[in-house]
Amino acid sequence: MKSTFLATANIALVKYWGKRDERLNLPTNGSISATMDEQLKTVTTVAFSEKLKEDEAWLDGKKAEGKELQRISEHLDLLRHPAKVSWKAKVVSENAFPAAAGFASSASGYAALTLAAAKALGLKLDTAQLSMMARRGSGSACRSLYGGFVEWQRGEKHDGSDSFALQLAPASHWKEFRNVIATVKKERKKVSSRQGMQRTVRTSRLFLKRLDEVPKTLQEVKETIREKDGAKLFAAVMRDSNNMHACMLDSRPPIIYLNDTSRTVMESVEALNDAAGEIAAGYSFDAGPNAHVFTEERHAEAVRKMLAEIEGVEGVQVCRLGEGPRELKKHLF
Ligand code: DP6
Repeated sequence: MKSTFLATANIALVKYWGKRDERLNLPTNGSISATMDEQLKTVTTVAFSEKLKEDEAWLDGKKAEGKELQRISEHLDLLRHPAKVSWKAKVVSENAFPAAAGFASSASGYAALTLAAAKALGLKLDTAQLSMMARRGSGSACRSLYGGFVEWQRGEKHDGSDSFALQLAPASHWKEFRNVIATVKKERKKVSSRQGMQRTVRTSRLFLKRLDEVPKTLQEVKETIREKDGAKLFAAVMRDSNNMHACMLDSRPPIIYLNDTSRTVMESVEALNDAAGEIAAGYSFDAGPNAHVFTEERHAEAVRKMLAEIEGVEGVQVCRLGEGPRELKKHLF
């Protein structure tokens, strides 16, 4: 009744921003991501036992309480239900993300939790079904079920049975692909992505335009991945990130995740591309000021150096594509 899984974060190249069903985490649009290597990993052990009275969870050494624990418990219920058990669980989860990086670990966290709990309960689910389960915990987690490049299909059905992720290409398809991550100092209190999405869907008119655009972007990005066309991919990635942040700004009240350092990163990447005479790199930002600068191996050192020199950048690391989640024989407890 005990199992341990490792899963890694994924960063969207075409963003998920907006839900058509908040309870089931069904997205307003499809999205595409790159799964990162094990520098951005979460390891989670889950053990079910008849002896436990309540679920308990320890996240990076801290006991989860209140809403945080409730969200984990509700996720475990989703897996207990098909297994027809009511046993409570102990969960221990460790993030190996760089210290103080402030990355959202919900994608790797819910992917690892889903896989470990399903295995511990002996559930026989295929990867698409596991991806759907992970989606219920956190939308973007459904993409961390695979390595390499991944697409989360929007789906059409109301019950969400066609909204799950599929692998577009494994990590080996594009070995030179890199994400140079700049950790940026935060100044303001964060609006959660959950609240932010809700506000955008309800109040932004620009968002309707985005929904018209995304299918074209998805098509374009899939082609550029297939052809390993960095210049076209990085251009599309910058446009999609800017488009999402424009919709955030168009929301009432506006949602602002980028700061002066993020904007300096944007200008510096544009300057680097101008100097190179090609689109050598492309930036992307999620619900925070940290920058993800996608590039290829031959430009990675120049990008790393450039980012490290920007005021407000606290750390830079170069990530490759990851192989996806795997089971570990060594448990955390
Ligand atoms: C900006 O997956 O964290 O990173 O489904 O509410 O848990 P919930 O949201 P979450 O949102 C991720 C938003 C994003 C874009 C992306 O990863 O596609």
